[in-house]
Amino acid sequence: MTHASDQDRVLIFDTTLRDGEQSPGATMSHEEKLEIASLLDDMGVDVIEAGFPIASEGDFRAVSEIAKNSRNSVICGLSRANFKDIDRCWEAIKGAGRSRIHTFIGTSPLHRAIPNLTMDEMADRIHETVTHARNLCDDVQWSPMDATRTEHDYLCRVVEIAIKAGATTINIPDTVGYTAPRESADLIRMLIEKVPGADDIVFATHCHNDLGMATANSLAAVEAGARQIECTINGLGERAGNTALEEVVMALKVRNDIMPYATGIDTTKIMNLSRRVASVSGFAVQFNKAIVGKNAFQHESGIHQDGVLKNVETFEIMKPADIGITGDNIVMGKHSGRAALRSKLKNLGVELGENQLNDIFVRFKDLADRKKEVYDDDILALVSISDDATPDHLALKSLRVVCGTDGPQQADMVMVVNGAEKTATTTGDGPVDAAFNAVKEIFPHAAKLELYQVHAVTQGTDAQATVSVRLNEDGRIVTGSSADTDTVVASVRAYVHALNRLVVRRDKTGGDTKEISYKDAG
Ligand code: KIV
Ligand code: ZN
Repeated sequence: MTHASDQDRVLIFDTTLRDGEQSPGATMSHEEKLEIASLLDDMGVDVIEAGFPIASEGDFRAVSEIAKNSRNSVICGLSRANFKDIDRCWEAIKGAGRSRIHTFIGTSPLHRAIPNLTMDEMADRIHETVTHARNLCDDVQWSPMDATRTEHDYLCRVVEIAIKAGATTINIPDTVGYTAPRESADLIRMLIEKVPGADDIVFATHCHNDLGMATANSLAAVEAGARQIECTINGLGERAGNTALEEVVMALKVRNDIMPYATGIDTTKIMNLSRRVASVSGFAVQFNKAIVGKNAFQHESGIHQDGVLKNVETFEIMKPADIGITGDNIVMGKHSGRAALRSKLKNLGVELGENQLNDIFVRFKDLADRKKEVYDDDILALVSISDDATPDHLALKSLRVVCGTDGPQQADMVMVVNGAEKTATTTGDGPVDAAFNAVKEIFPHAAKLELYQVHAVTQGTDAQATVSVRLNEDGRIVTGSSADTDTVVASVRAYVHALNRLVVRRDKTGGDTKEISYKDAG
């Protein structure tokens, strides 16, 4: 893009709800997708890729509703290189104030072999599909999937065809996370130099993190002339994930002296979004993750603490407040009221609606009755497991577990299943196993347990445990989470949460699992 005023502006294209949500296990509910889209819009994301409308009825509904509710962001939908996908995509996004069709096809030798198209046939397909998309929508993005492993001559040829057919953004995906920073920059530079019409469009960079270079590759592409970065919150995405939004945005802000490019992101909203995405996707953020990890602003060693106390800049290159974390001295306990909780949450960078706040307040009071001091992390754990709108088909009523050195452990459980009380007494290899066996006896199902994860929220033997459970039933993947000072109770609640979500997905969609294949370009 050559307009002088746009030279230094880098567009942020967020694909948490498409590439991020596509990663196995990160499935979000309809309401969660709407909430995340609204937070992204508020934060100043330029383009929200809201989903893949042809992938399922659920994706179509979510993209349509996100489009209708959009305020400032452009709403984009993904489509493969065929008219049916593109038409479906347009149907979903056309209600937005500003909409974009994103269409793609794999152009590298390995990807060309899948639909079995010759180079010429693929070139024709690109011309036809981009033309079709442009006849529907003024804003069309085209991506040669696996661009970084595509022959340079062919890449230049197809990019030129897409531009001539009306594409307004050309995205260069490093689909398998294979490129390195210098190569990423060279590729963008080559395209800008060689392809006729390149000056009239925006080049985007879309990197995956398989070799841990996604952020560096994206920034290198920007320095070479790309003016759109595609990224996800927390780097969510298939395999090792996508470029993390918080990393590129904060790198551009903190090192603006050597990378003088601006984004439209309100960085103080980053932490809240990071927590919400971690919570709804079930993908916890690693403690030492750049920018949003729990330890990103903590100073443990004596030398560091000493330095920070004397001058915070000795070991801090950015302030916690820059991403929405502001400290306070309020200690929470059972006498703390709703106003104190609201203020605490605000200081932690969490923004909640009135209903959510009420829900968290009830849980907070319950926790404060059992735990003398409620730490910031305890409160964040309550937020992260705050109820979604999933109806309770089954709910835990009571649980008693007998443990001991002589095993086997035994669980006595009462559950309410669709209004009726059911009981079970089961044994297992450990208390959690015994309790999960009771759930299976009361509510038989074929879902496979794919992930069981426990984290202690704080230190101390009265610490809360947060538990995540991921289930897979015939490709329908759901995640449940819960927190409690009793690890077994938290585990069963997380399991039950996941089962409730599974029931909803079965009811709503029957076979609505995403079995879409990228190879079906035709
Ligand atoms: O990584 C990739 O190539 C993609 C495309 C669909 C743009 O996500
Ligand atoms: Zn991708």
